[in-house]
Amino acid sequence: MSSNTERSLVLIKPDAVRRGLLGEVLSRFERKGLVVEALELRTMDAALADQHYADHVDKPFYPPLKEFMTSGPLVALILSGDEAIEVVRAMIGSTDGRKAAAGTIRGDFALSNRENLVHASDSPESAKREIDLWFPQR
Ligand code: PPS
Repeated sequence: MSSNTERSLVLIKPDAVRRGLLGEVLSRFERKGLVVEALELRTMDAALADQHYADHVDKPFYPPLKEFMTSGPLVALILSGDEAIEVVRAMIGSTDGRKAAAGTIRGDFALSNRENLVHASDSPESAKREIDLWFPQR
């Protein structure tokens, strides 16, 4: 059986921290078998938000997204494991919590496409870019 170990940059967003869902979300990733390679409680500032969401800064939804993402502490982590990028995306579910499948993190706990609990890298290229941004030493 071949394996393809990947790293994904994951943000457990300020709504999850505020709602006391940090342990629940982290526990799901751990129980799946993903490895926590780095973990930090951070508050995103405006400059980091603009860099992290560089592909979205011109979109109409960006101002409320930025306001939300800078509104309080979040937890940034690097998760690694076999096919980790796709596995984590499947576990968090689709962007809009109202439409995300039951059993996914957003499907079980979110009712919004902004306050949707978790961000995760969507490709190997974005994982590399985002890990360099959040954990330059890693
Ligand atoms: S796109 O245009 O399809 O690439 O966008 P999408 O992947 O659906 O979403 C990218 C991130 O933007 C957030 N988002 C929003 N924030 C605030 N308001 C609205 N209406 C909105 N729509 C999408 C969404 O939660 C994604 O955040 P991340 O952190 O990448 O999961």
